[in-house]
Amino acid sequence: MLQNKHILIGITGGIAAYKICTLIRDFKKSGAEVKVIATPNALNFVTKLTLQNLSQNEVYIEEFDVKNWKPEHISLADWADMMLIAPASANTIGKIAQGLADNLLTSVACAFSKKIIIAPAMNCNMWNNETVQENLKTLQRRGAEILEPENGFLACGYMGKGRLCSLDKIYNAIEEALNYSQTLKGQKVVITAGGTIEEIDPVRYISNYSSGKMGLALAKSAYDMGAEVVFITTKDFDVPFKKVLVKSALDMQNAANEEFETANYIIMAAAVADYRVKEYSQQKMKKCEQDSITLEFVKNPDILAELCKRKMDCYEDKSACNCKPVIVGFCAESENLLENAKAKIAKKGCDFLIANDISRKDIGFGVNDNEVIVLSKNGDILKLDKAPKNIIARKILECISTI
Ligand code: PMT
Repeated sequence: MLQNKHILIGITGGIAAYKICTLIRDFKKSGAEVKVIATPNALNFVTKLTLQNLSQNEVYIEEFDVKNWKPEHISLADWADMMLIAPASANTIGKIAQGLADNLLTSVACAFSKKIIIAPAMNCNMWNNETVQENLKTLQRRGAEILEPENGFLACGYMGKGRLCSLDKIYNAIEEALNYSQTLKGQKVVITAGGTIEEIDPVRYISNYSSGKMGLALAKSAYDMGAEVVFITTKDFDVPFKKVLVKSALDMQNAANEEFETANYIIMAAAVADYRVKEYSQQKMKKCEQDSITLEFVKNPDILAELCKRKMDCYEDKSACNCKPVIVGFCAESENLLENAKAKIAKKGCDFLIANDISRKDIGFGVNDNEVIVLSKNGDILKLDKAPKNIIARKILECISTI
């Protein structure tokens, strides 16, 4: 899978540096070309000779060790298909986030316009430091992928979060990033995420368990596939694409309507409340004498169904409705998944419906995995087995972009 791919690995000064030796060997075995930049501190933990032998390439350390007319930090950035920084120390993370370029590794990172994957490893108190977390968010917002460290026994003697994530996780992330096709280049993809918040009064609201993770995974995958992404969300994630933060179903509908005309794809992964309170109370509702109270609810618009209707109204020839935007709904069911999904796709009129079983604790709401059935309006059905949401997201996008 990695045949002829160019992987640039930046190693910083941390005890986990020795683990990267195994990773270099694995990349080489898979057919990749590997070049290593080591910070001077990294060489306190692994030797230049080891890295050189494993990568079968020169190891780059000095910034001004210029061998041809092009400075090293530019030629390495041009050569690589992607860059991995592992282990990434708090120091290097901070410098890259601030755009500092005081050694070869940070200079290359500063000049790097392709995908960067960062696998931090450090003491748990350093990991929890607010500045470190802000720096990571900054990098994430600019498109870097952060592979969070794991909990466990740390070399400094502490127990906590800070241990380099597993090498399998790093390998898989690299493989996935390198094998992304740019099939959505030039396409605008609008994605909704999270549970809507329907306010009752200034302190209370009704909502649901949607964490926004499924929508976020779709948005990130679409972005990696080259799309211009508009992310309409009730959850405030740091993302490198346009984000529209909303609360209620009505807010979400307005935001989606605004993007409709220029969208190529609209994917509704949000869990939208079907009802909102009839009358929002401007003041905090007081506890009263009675043992029970009654709130009256009114129906929210069905955003998905109305978008589908708007699309149909755009075309006089209804058989031409394969045209843009392709509209994709989700379907959250706790029983009779396929049966209910078939009824829902017919009722809502969308091009695709992604059905998931939200009665299971290991998939659906809040967790990192999902298992879905993709239904198309033509009656095709595809089951995607349980996998992390980013894998499911990518498969969904591949599937809906082939019509
Ligand atoms: O966010 P996570 O924690 O990662 O969880 C992911 C998820 C379970 C929320 C997601 O995978 C999912 O299933 N999202 C849709 C949830 C939902 O509202 O399903 P539904 O079957 O009630 O609605 C069907 C479709 O109509 C959905 O696309 C929904 O966005 C849309 N809808 C629903 C009601 C409404 N008033 N307007 C709508 O547009």
